[in-house]
Amino acid sequence: MRPSRLANALVRAAALSAALLPAVSSAAPPPQPPLAVIPLPREIATGERVYEWGAEPRLGADSADERAAAATLADHLRSLGLRPAVVARSAAGSDVTFVTLVRADGVLGSEGYALRVGASGVTIEANAAAGLANAVRTLVQLTARRAGPVLQTQTVSIRDWPRYRWRGIHLDVSRHFFPVATVERYIDVAARYKLNVFHWHLTDDEGWRIEIKSHPLLTRAGSCGAQRECGYYTQAEIAEVVRYAAQRHVTIVPEIEVPGHAGAALAAYPELSCGAVAVPKVYCPTERTFRFLEDVLAEIVALFPGPYVHIGGDEVSSREWRSSAAVAELMRRERLSSYAAVQGYVTMRLARFLERNGRRAVAWDEVLAAPVPASVVVMAWRGGMTDVARRSGRDVVASPDGPLYFDAYQGDSAQEPPTMRFVATLDQVYRYDAGDVMGVQANLWTEQVATADHLFYMLLPRELALAEVAWSTPSARSWESFGARLPPELTWLERHGYRFRIPDVAFDLDDAGAVFAEVPGRIDAALALVPSRAVRVALSAPAPGTIRYTTDGSAPTIRSPLYRAPFTVDLDAGGAVVKAAAFLDDGSRGPLTACRIRRGVASHAAGTFPSWSALLAARSPNVYRPPRGIP
Ligand code: ACM
Repeated sequence: MRPSRLANALVRAAALSAALLPAVSSAAPPPQPPLAVIPLPREIATGERVYEWGAEPRLGADSADERAAAATLADHLRSLGLRPAVVARSAAGSDVTFVTLVRADGVLGSEGYALRVGASGVTIEANAAAGLANAVRTLVQLTARRAGPVLQTQTVSIRDWPRYRWRGIHLDVSRHFFPVATVERYIDVAARYKLNVFHWHLTDDEGWRIEIKSHPLLTRAGSCGAQRECGYYTQAEIAEVVRYAAQRHVTIVPEIEVPGHAGAALAAYPELSCGAVAVPKVYCPTERTFRFLEDVLAEIVALFPGPYVHIGGDEVSSREWRSSAAVAELMRRERLSSYAAVQGYVTMRLARFLERNGRRAVAWDEVLAAPVPASVVVMAWRGGMTDVARRSGRDVVASPDGPLYFDAYQGDSAQEPPTMRFVATLDQVYRYDAGDVMGVQANLWTEQVATADHLFYMLLPRELALAEVAWSTPSARSWESFGARLPPELTWLERHGYRFRIPDVAFDLDDAGAVFAEVPGRIDAALALVPSRAVRVALSAPAPGTIRYTTDGSAPTIRSPLYRAPFTVDLDAGGAVVKAAAFLDDGSRGPLTACRIRRGVASHAAGTFPSWSALLAARSPNVYRPPRGIP
């Protein structure tokens, strides 16, 4: 018998929620869920047995890097009630052995690792400190909690290394300011998922957020944005965050925006504008401005040891340059025939300054409009610019404003906090592929995001999908597998006080003739046509907790029927509307999804799909239109 869609749904539901939902079927043993690791490792061979941790595990580590990785593992084991000790590797009876390879493994690079969990102990090997740390991250996820009195880890052998060397997450602290503690939590959660770049957008029109000793007005006049939200980081705080990130093998890329988005700096030092408008936002490219910018960048270079400094370059209007004698003189002197070339000159000067100081400039893709030094890394953010940037032969970081803008809606706007952008759902982030580039990054602009809770809600769990896009091979990635590995991580986030968006419920219908169609403008609802008079409905969500549903048109609450197994809806009397949502154990409810099911035979015409997930997969980012209410 051909497996029905409902059978597939049963398998998926069981995998998604092995520990979380009551069993869907008692006939067969539930399928083994994949190892709960995000991002998915490269090579995994699972064993049949388990490693049982003793109450006082000994972690054998010699070098400072090994001891640092062992200390992170020890913290985790302590949180589970064990009493670990970091000992010399030569000491007899290590339970976990950390080894920095003497003869480097060329495949693993600096971030890859080999992790073997055997029935009698654990071995971690890597070429370098970052690889040891990544191995510990994987082991920590594999050893999330006690299932009984004894802590166990499934035996497994993993060899793992990243797809991209730049795996970035950005944070705009100009539009809204976030204190050091929030920034460190942001870095922490990025590091857990093996992201390795934190792009810190420190300056913009609305606020200058970093102390610059040579120009103290930047943090007096400039640190209160248009929204009158003051706040900046002292250099001591910056040094603390740099140290914090380095401990987690995260490189900070500070961004000082030039020549546009400079409103905060120009509020403090209006003489650096061309004087053309009352509220300037673009630097005038005079020698005085270059002296200022080089002073600023000299302090930035001293504070941030990483190889990159981002110098902005996006959305520069030439309006403030058009009536400027200084700009006209610069164009004559340097034979610049356009304002794009003027911007290119600014980029060139600052990129050269950074080169002289041992750093590479990063800039938004607008800088491709003029010749700039080959050392400049292009951050492609506008739709389609990743391909253009790639063809330029440069190092490219893809952060497209479709799927990788985390200020976009995660679902239907009627159910989400307001944003300025379209939509980037979890599955759209997951399905993104950047191709052959140096790296990928998601950006989180904060015009609409004022609190830490809101910030993490926008970030999570999309950041986990980003991490898998950035680390794992595209051929190994699957939305179903990701969904199966997500619930334990959401539980971890919940326990650690991170707010996140609870994922949507998906529908599956046990009828080979079922056809799904979009409700125009809606991303939380679909129509389904089914030839039979009744159909069994399966629900699933990659979320911990429970699923509750209604069939009377009302919104599910914590008192609505609990979803335990596929149920039948009768379609004779005009069809049915099923509404469902996932609930966490604390009672908080995820977004509502709805499926209106009608009786009828549908042609498989354009705009129809054989399943809910096919409908999701076909939807491209940035197609959002305002909703009109649940159908
Ligand atoms: C950008 O989103 N303006 C880089």
